[in-house]
Amino acid sequence: MQEIIVDHVSLQIKNAKLLSDINLTLHSGKVYGLRGRNGSGKTVLMKCICGFMRPTEGKVTVNGKVIHKDMDFLPSAGIIIEEPGFFPNYSGFKNLKILAGIQNRITDAKIRETMELVGLDSTMKKPVGKYSLGMRQRLGIAQAMMEDPNVLILDEPTNGLDEDGVEWFRQFILEQKEKGKLILLASHSREDIEMLSDEVYFMEKGVLTK
Ligand SMILES: Nc1ncnc2c1ncn2[C@@H]1O[C@H](COP(=O)(O)OP(=O)(O)O)[C@@H](O)[C@H]1O
Ligand SMILES: [Mg+2]
Repeated sequence: MQEIIVDHVSLQIKNAKLLSDINLTLHSGKVYGLRGRNGSGKTVLMKCICGFMRPTEGKVTVNGKVIHKDMDFLPSAGIIIEEPGFFPNYSGFKNLKILAGIQNRITDAKIRETMELVGLDSTMKKPVGKYSLGMRQRLGIAQAMMEDPNVLILDEPTNGLDEDGVEWFRQFILEQKEKGKLILLASHSREDIEMLSDEVYFMEKGVLTK
């Protein structure tokens, strides 16, 4: 059971208040949706939750431990924030193998299995630089998933996916939820959020409402 608590988090950079007193509690087995227009602060909030940005006030705790104090980053999380960076000259499999190698915890078979799960042919030689946006997005989802994390932080995950891809993604999220994952999903697509989320939050100019 995972519990993430965003506790009175504010973030100010120079004169800009990017987040204003955000409070949010997230638990395993649920999908939390974050809506709001471009520039409202969804990505910044997700970065604070992941430990990639540091709040100027408040804190984020994970199972009672404080990010930036007890640990640097959100542990055991699969994260897609902004477009995932891949090596354009290597195949999808080789990219995942390099990224997996950083932790060296999973097998080639697991990488191939995850690629097939997201609908990519793991034997495909095509370099990632020649992938379509949707294929790169699927590879990003595979990267986030391959180590079977308990928590998924997905920022605009359906960007660039075609209709089949979006359909597949929705099914996939519901399966992950059934498996008891904690899922935080940001999208400007009202449909994605409303269809998938157990709880929907709305971000406007750094202020979060339900
Ligand atoms: N590192 C940063 N420094 C200063 N301002 C930033 C930084 N990152 C994002 N912003 C600003 O914070 C606001 C919210 O951005 P963002 O969270 O990316 O919006 P959203 O994801 O909802 O589209 C925007 O005005 C953006 O320009
Ligand atoms: Mg964003």
